[in-house]
Amino acid sequence: MAKQVAVLAGDGIGPEIMAEAIKVLDKLKLDIKYKEADVGGAAIDKHGKALPQETIDACRESAAILFGAVGGPKWEKLPPEQQPERGALLPLRKIFDLYANLRPAKIFAPLADASTLRPDIIEGGLDLLIVRELTSGIYFGDPKGITEEEGFDTMRYKKHEVERIAKVAFEAARKRGKKVTSIDKANVLSTMVFWRNTVTEVHKKYPDIELSHMYVDNAAMQLVRNPKQFDVILAGNMFGDILSDEASMLTGSIGMLPSASIGEGGFGLYEPIHGSAPDIAGKGIANPLAQILSSAMLLRHSLNMESEARKIESAVEEVLNEGYRTGDIMSVGCQKVNCAEMGNLVSEKIG
Ligand code: IPM
Ligand code: MN
Repeated sequence: MAKQVAVLAGDGIGPEIMAEAIKVLDKLKLDIKYKEADVGGAAIDKHGKALPQETIDACRESAAILFGAVGGPKWEKLPPEQQPERGALLPLRKIFDLYANLRPAKIFAPLADASTLRPDIIEGGLDLLIVRELTSGIYFGDPKGITEEEGFDTMRYKKHEVERIAKVAFEAARKRGKKVTSIDKANVLSTMVFWRNTVTEVHKKYPDIELSHMYVDNAAMQLVRNPKQFDVILAGNMFGDILSDEASMLTGSIGMLPSASIGEGGFGLYEPIHGSAPDIAGKGIANPLAQILSSAMLLRHSLNMESEARKIESAVEEVLNEGYRTGDIMSVGCQKVNCAEMGNLVSEKIG
C-alpha cells in the first residue's frame, strides 16, 4: 500500500518551494500519496488557528510530514502563542514527540565563496551536523508565565530526554567523523551539569566516538574561529536553536539547508532551515533547494529510501556544478534561474 506523506506548505514562499519539491519527488515515481493540509498563517485565515485538528489528523495518518515555512507580517500582531511559528511548529513537535532535530550545515563546494568566513577557514569543506533536542528544555519547562512584575521560564531536562538525544548524536557521529561536541553551560546552570553528566554516562556505550564538552559561549566563538574542528554538535533546545542559525550562516547559503525533526519509530517532520521570506513571496524567485533537500532527508529517515534520497542530492549538486543559481546564491559567471526553473533542472537530472 502506498505510504502517505502530509504536505504542509504554509505561508510566504512555502507553497512555491513546496511545488518544486513535489515536482522532484514525482519524477522519482515513488509509491507515495501526498496529502496537503493547511498550516500557519494560511490556516489561521481559513480555520482560525495555526494548527487545525484536520491538519493534525492528516499528519497522524501519514508516515512523515513535509513542511514548508510559516509566518509573515500579517499575523505578527497576534499573541505570540497564536502566531504561525509558535502556534504550529511547537505543538507539532510536541504532539508527535519529534525530539531529535538534525540540522546539517554543509558547504556546497561550488558555493564556497558565499560563506562570510575567510576562504582559509573553510578550505577543504565544512560539514557539520547539529543535533538539537527539540521537545524539552526551557522551551517547554513548567512553570512559565508573565505577570505584571516578572516573566519566567523553566529550564529542565529529564534523564531519559538527555539520554535519547545523546544516543542520536553518538549514532550519527558513527556514520560521520566519529566526534561529538556536547554543548552546555555547566559552569552556571544545574540543568547543564546534569546534561553533561548524563551525556558522559551515555558515552560509555560509544567508546569508538570521541566526546568533548564545550560551554555554549565558547562554542559560539569557536564556530566562527575554527568551524572545521566540529563534526557532530549536540545541544539542548535553546542552545541548539542559536548555534544552528550561526552554523547555517557559515555556509553562506541558508536557502540551501534542510532539516529533520524525528521521533521514535521513524516518523518525522522535514523542513528547510530558512523561513517564509514574505518579502519575496509570490515572485517565483525563491530558492527551492532547501525544500528539495528536505524531501531527500524525508526519504532517507522516514521512508528508508536511501538510494532515492541520494538521487535527489546528487541531482542538486550537479545542477549547482553546472552553474545554475537562484538569486540568493547568485555569483559572477553563473546562470540565474527562478524557482520553477531550478525545480525543473533538478528533476531533469533524475531518471
Ligand atoms: C527554529 C525556530 C523556532 C524555534 C521558532 C520559530 C519557534 O527558530 O525552528 O529554529 O525556536 O525552535
Ligand atoms: Mn531557530
